Amino acid sequence: MSQSPRRWWRFGRRSDADTTAATTTATAEPAMPNPPARDPMIPKPPENPFSAFWASGRVPTRANTFLEMAAKASALGKERSFQILELHAGSTVLDVGCGNGRDVARLMELVGPTGEVWGVDNSAVMINDAKAAHPRGLFVEGDVHRLPFQDNFFDAVRAERVLMHQDDPFHGFGEMLRVTKPGGMVLAMDADTENYYVYPCDPVVFQRFISYTARRILKHSRLSLELYDALVRQGAQPIIELSAALPGTYETVSADIASGAPISAYAFFNPPARLHAVQAGVITEAESAALAQAIQTGLDDQTILFLQNQIIVAIQKPLTPSA
Ligand SMILES: C[S@@+](CC[C@H](N)C(=O)[O-])C[C@H]1O[C@@H](n2cnc3c(N)ncnc32)[C@H](O)[C@@H]1O
Repeated sequence: MSQSPRRWWRFGRRSDADTTAATTTATAEPAMPNPPARDPMIPKPPENPFSAFWASGRVPTRANTFLEMAAKASALGKERSFQILELHAGSTVLDVGCGNGRDVARLMELVGPTGEVWGVDNSAVMINDAKAAHPRGLFVEGDVHRLPFQDNFFDAVRAERVLMHQDDPFHGFGEMLRVTKPGGMVLAMDADTENYYVYPCDPVVFQRFISYTARRILKHSRLSLELYDALVRQGAQPIIELSAALPGTYETVSADIASGAPISAYAFFNPPARLHAVQAGVITEAESAALAQAIQTGLDDQTILFLQNQIIVAIQKPLTPSA
């Protein structure tokens, strides 16, 4: 394996021109090696509507229904991600793609009144929602590709279900590294969408269907694995953890469905998604009908469960560039 262990902290950085931070001291570095090739068994169709929606910068307030459902489903993973950040009273923290600000509020509790927690999001609507819900939070509109902060500013930086929607998540992760102090933690948590399950569907058919659908509707349906791979190849020693998701139950799944695709998790298994999979030859019409029947039974009986794990990838920025 070819590694360049002295360069990994410049991960994903392309050139000075890519960042607008006034004090940035970045120097041009060679581009990252390409992320690993995808499994050739299932071709990736050329459309990513779910990611395109979430990365658009035009996420509306009604997306909060999905965010609240996902927050309940990934509650354990969120808490674990906060632990990995090694926060203490007075820490400065950044939540990238902060959405409605729920995690900023929790981080403020963890760092106390002497700490400083910022949330950045490229959706003005999300930033306004976050400010309204958490008036003491520090929220600013901005893009993960050009974070509006100085180099080495934060003790810890995290992004949850943000990088998986980007065209170039490696560049975004590099930006997160740039704004982190030496010794600070940088963490990305993304959904393990290719291992996602809706009970009571047939698990074998659902797996085949969801692998295809996740690749079709997301830009990076297994971003955590790609990020881990790329970091290791650069000589880093990332932490990687699978955080067990709490199940989404009838209450959360039905609210999510009511909020409508593409905002909802229902975009993963709604009728158009099943039709795409039939047309691509991934599942048969009979299998699609059986999935639909199982989902309907789960809704009618209120026994439906939505299970999707999250994967955390984190690294500590070295104390010295040559470390
Ligand atoms: C799926 S939501 C997750 C929100 C939040 N992290 C959470 O766990 O509830 C993704 C968020 O990232 C924001 N986002 C997407 N692309 C972004 C970008 N390029 N820069 C900054 N924020 C972005 C979206 O507006 C949205 O609020």
